Order: sequence, then C-alpha cells, then structure tokens
Amino acid sequence: MCGIVGYIGRRDVAPLLLEGLQRLEYRGYDSAGIVITGKSGELRTVKAKGRVRELEARVPKRFAGTTGIAHTRWATHGAPSDHNAHPHLDGDSKVAIVHNGIIDNASELRAKLTADGVEFASETDTEVLAHLIARAQAETLEEKVREALRAVEGTYGLAVLHRDFADRIVVARNGSPVVLGIGEKEMFVASDVAALVAHTRQVVTLQDGEMATLKADDFRTYTTEGSLTTATPTTVEWEAESYDMGGHDTYMHKEISEQAEAVDRVLRGRIDDRFSTVHLGGLNLEPGEARRVRRIKILGCGTSYHAGQIGAGLIEELARIPADAEPASEFRYRNPVVDPDTLYVAVSQSGETYDVLAAVQELKRKGARVLGVVNVVGSAIAREADGGTYVHAGPEVCVVSTKCFTNTVVAFALLALHLGRIRDLSVADGKRIIEGLRRLPGQIDEILKTEPEIKQLARRYADAKSMLFIGRVRGYPVAREASLKLKEVSYIHAEAYPASELKHGPLALIDPSMPTVAIVPDDDLLEKNRAAMEEIKARSGRILAVAHQPQEKADDTIIVPKNENELDPILMGIPLQLFAYHTALALGRDIDKPRNLAKSVTVE
Ligand code: F6R
Repeated sequence: MCGIVGYIGRRDVAPLLLEGLQRLEYRGYDSAGIVITGKSGELRTVKAKGRVRELEARVPKRFAGTTGIAHTRWATHGAPSDHNAHPHLDGDSKVAIVHNGIIDNASELRAKLTADGVEFASETDTEVLAHLIARAQAETLEEKVREALRAVEGTYGLAVLHRDFADRIVVARNGSPVVLGIGEKEMFVASDVAALVAHTRQVVTLQDGEMATLKADDFRTYTTEGSLTTATPTTVEWEAESYDMGGHDTYMHKEISEQAEAVDRVLRGRIDDRFSTVHLGGLNLEPGEARRVRRIKILGCGTSYHAGQIGAGLIEELARIPADAEPASEFRYRNPVVDPDTLYVAVSQSGETYDVLAAVQELKRKGARVLGVVNVVGSAIAREADGGTYVHAGPEVCVVSTKCFTNTVVAFALLALHLGRIRDLSVADGKRIIEGLRRLPGQIDEILKTEPEIKQLARRYADAKSMLFIGRVRGYPVAREASLKLKEVSYIHAEAYPASELKHGPLALIDPSMPTVAIVPDDDLLEKNRAAMEEIKARSGRILAVAHQPQEKADDTIIVPKNENELDPILMGIPLQLFAYHTALALGRDIDKPRNLAKSVTVE
C-alpha cells in the first residue's frame, strides 16, 4: 500500500527520502511527495502525480534541510493527482503529515471543519488530520497529535512535522506499520524496513496504539494515552542487498530465480530424520492439543489464499484433518461460526494485510486459537497469532508474489507433516514426504533451467485475449494461482476452473482463440485430466499442458520433474510464474508494478 519514510539527523534529507521512496514504491505508486524543514523552520513541499522519478524531477536544486518526511501513495480517498498526493498541510503550512491507512469518519470531520471555515486543498481523508493537529489547543506537538487522533476513527501509520517544533518528527501507529530506524546521531522512520535497511539495521517496530518522538540523537515511544513504553531495538534479519535487484531486470525475475534457495531456507534445521517428522518450534501446539483439533480453517487473501488452498489439501492428505481455505476478506464479514475445536491459520506474506489481520482479531475476540503462516518477521499478524511458523522466503519486493507463494506452500507441507506424524501418518510416509521435500530445491533449479523454452511459449500465447486454467483436486489451486499471476502481471483475462466442471458451463467458451492451460500431474487423476483435454481439443481449443510427461492432446507441454503426488503442486506452479512473467514482458507491461495494484493491502 502507501509508503512512508522520514529522517532527522545531520545529512541532506531530500536525497535520503527520495532513495527511501524508490525502495517503497512497490507498495503503492500513483503519486508521491516530500516535505522538509527549511533553514528558518518553514515547511517546503514538492508533490507529483506518477512515479517517484516524476517527483525527483520536480525537487528544486536548492532544497536543503536535515529533517523531512515523504510518501508514495496508492489512492483510496481522492483520485491520483498532485493535490491529493501527500504530504498534506494545514492552510497556514504549520503542520505537514504523511499517512497510510483510512480515516473512517473523515467526511464527518471534514464537514465540521468546513463549517468552521477551514478550506480543504485535497479530497483526501488525511488532510483532515493536518487541520486537526494545526487547530489543536494542546501545548506540545505530541499532545496536539494525540488530541487530533482522539477525534478520528480508522487506521493510521503517520508522521508529522510542525513548523514550531522543528527539532522533531512525531509518529503514530494504529493498524498500519511504522518502523523506527536507529542510526548514529540520526533517526529514520518508515512503513517498511526496506526503506531504512541501507542505513541501519537497528529497528523498533511500533505497536498499535503507540506513538514516538524522533530527534536527531534521541527517540522515545509512548502510548496514545501518553504513558512511556519500552522500545527494544531488534536487528533486521536481511542485508540491504536482499532488497536490491541483484543483476536481474525486475524484482519478479529475481524472486522467481531465488526459489531454490528460499525453499532450502524454509526446510533448514526443521527436519527430524530420527522420527520422520519436522520441528516447528513456534507453533505453541502440544501434541495432545494437535490430536484434539477437529478442523482446520485457513484464511488469507489473493496468492496467500491460494497457497492456503494447497495447504488445506496437504493437511487433509497427510494429517487427515478436514481442512479448507477461505478468503479472509469474506470470512470476516459473514459472522462465521467460531468453533472451539477448529484451529485457524492466518496466512500472509506481509503479515500486515488488513482483512487477514481483522479476521485474526475477530477470531481471537471469540476465543479461537489462531496460528500464523507469515513471511515478515514481527509483522502485525505474526504478533497477533498465538503461534505459527515463518516461511523464510526473504524480502519480496515485486507486487506480484512468487517465491513467497512457493515457500508458503512448503511451510504448509511442513505443518501437515508435523500434524500428520502426531496423528496417524506412518513413519514410512513421513520419510517419503521428507525425501520429497529434500528433492524440491534441485527440482526447482531444473524447472528454472527451462526458462528459454517457456519464454518462447509465452510469446506464442501472448496474443490471447483470454485464457482458461484448469486443474483437478491438487491441480486446481495451482490453476487458480497461475491464472491470478497471468492476469495481474500481463492484464490478459484469465479464469481458473476445476477441470471436472468444464462440462457444466465453461466448455462454451472454447474456440481457437481461447487457449487453455491444463495442470496434468502424473497421479491418480491423470486419465481424467486427459479426458478434459480431449473435450477441449474436440472443440478446436489450444492447450498448453504442465505435466510430468508429454501430453498427446496438448499443443505444447511444459514438463516438470515428478515429486511425491502430495508435493507436486509446489513445483507445477513455478513454470507458470515464468510463463506469466514472459507474457507480460512480451506485452511490454510494467512487471514489478502492475497497474492499480499495491503490495501489502493495509486498508479494507
Ligand atoms: C498477488 C499478490 C496478492 C497478495 C495478497 C495478500 O500476486 O501478491 O494477491 O497475495 O494481497 O497479501 P499478503 O500475503 O501480504 O497478505
């Protein structure tokens, strides 16, 4: 979603903030802006619709200062434009604010402020906060911010500058991430460590309901009620280089290419050959409790939801516990029956997706046990959950999730194996799955080596206006994820269907202009999948199969290495990530920043 970065210290602030914005641009990118405290304390602002490079071009040569805050925006209230870009200032330019999140009662507050004579310069909810802070009666900036926050309902991660308090930045968090970076006589603030890590790896993650005051050589944290809190700095796990492109042309390509190492990382140190099981220390689930679980419900959004669907299949197959996945965004709005014998699992790359977090909070309020399967260490969902496992994919920068999807599915395989071995999975089957897991990194490398052929195929299919993706049982969530990948990065319409449902409607779509991508694993459903391909061929449809052996009915086949039946879905999606990537490349799309999308959706 939107990104925030701020700095106070001794260095020239504008280049630091612009660099931070570049690193955050993947979170949201329809406009950007920067405000610095000038020599006499005045607030100097530059904003631009479009990318950070547009903003950079507008920053004047003389724009010196050592304190500033900046923002990259993904529009919620108000269309992308210069005037809706953050920072927002009050009419007298005393206060400047950058904000992530949504102020729910903004219209009401705006009406009140307008009645009091305030003139608004934008359509955003954030501007309301700038006026409230400027009009607050309290003495200190901290109290002014607190007074303003008392009037608002909604979510925020925000940073504030005030002309009369030029020695500080005040920040606050409620539902939108805020991380402080501690440097040598300098402090940073950002919505994501990606913006800080080139300068410091010592960070403090604010909790909801916490605020902080940053000065050049000092900071303190306290609650929105004013009582001091203890901030314990932690060291960011990843080096700054992990956030760079590392010689690839796009983050998507880099992240697809990193999957063998990433899978190796999620397996490392967890396998217990003696008992043919795995250790997942963070689960906080005693064997007795694990045996009492009667159902597992997995909640996530988008790609994480698809990973959860594969996870549910793995749990049913290996642990024989009924399991299903549901979009967290739907779950939280349907007043779900919360069952004490169900174990809930929240899955999220960022650990900050608002719909997932809200579902977790609702479940916890109702007394449910919630585990997290999360990538970002210390993120809101990881903290809120009762236990869980990290997926260790490393930083994922491209808006489109690839390596984290694969690692999340592997993490689910570990969870399923762990639960299975506590319940009724035999030693022999445990061993078989462990051997399969160990083969994954090498097999991923084999798939990645077929990139030149996949590139050719992608070019051949790139003229399609629409594509159908089909799979059965284990292959169906793979088809769903592959169709999401294609549509979000190439903008080609794609639809996923269970192959078993073809006859019940979608066959009507088949003609030579509508290719089908079929997931055809060599398992007990192979003949059924072949029959589906035959039905498509009989209607002159083109077929691209992803299979373990050449498929006669398909026009083209991408061959993937065979693993254990249960683990095949982990590998079958990978060539289709490359397929989506090369299709998008052939169509000249902006691969790392697909239109209208943002990484980490921290609003509803
Ligand atoms: C698609 C994609 C999104 C995310 C979704 C959930 O490639 O990345 O569909 O998977 O927004 O995000 P997380 O996993 O951060 O909760």
